[in-house]
Amino acid sequence: MPTSLTISRRGLLVGLATLPSFAAMAETLPKMVVTKDPSCGCCGAWIDHVSKAGFSAEVIESSEVNRLKARLGVPQALASCHTAEVGGYVIEGHVPADAIKRLLAQKPQARGLAVPGMPVGSPGMEVAGAENDTYDVILFGPAGQTSFARYRGAQRV
Ligand code: CU
Ligand code: CU
Repeated sequence: MPTSLTISRRGLLVGLATLPSFAAMAETLPKMVVTKDPSCGCCGAWIDHVSKAGFSAEVIESSEVNRLKARLGVPQALASCHTAEVGGYVIEGHVPADAIKRLLAQKPQARGLAVPGMPVGSPGMEVAGAENDTYDVILFGPAGQTSFARYRGAQRV
């Protein structure tokens, strides 16, 4: 029956439209380049996190990550340990992978995302037995800074 076929096709399209994260995941993710200090371990745990989420990450060991941050326009107040570049954006610190995927899907006019410092429970900063911090993922750029998302541990709140 043509009518029921039309309805089911519409139903499918509506279903897909309500799942933007599914649609974003179906796309191939751009390659990520992560620069980290060789003596810092939490960066490696974050690289595991983004790799599990589907990013392929090239890792550059450098003792001058701060110079890269300055060159890429990361405000000093937003600095963390590692600095990543993906899809034309800068990712500073322990930013959850799903926030990066949302950034790449939404493509806002900005330089990138940052999780300043080292919040406990952010991806790569898990501490067994410790209470997770609540923290903001900051969208930053020439237009200023705004909260892009808020997380408690790895969970968006
Ligand atoms: Cu770190
Ligand atoms: Cu680190």
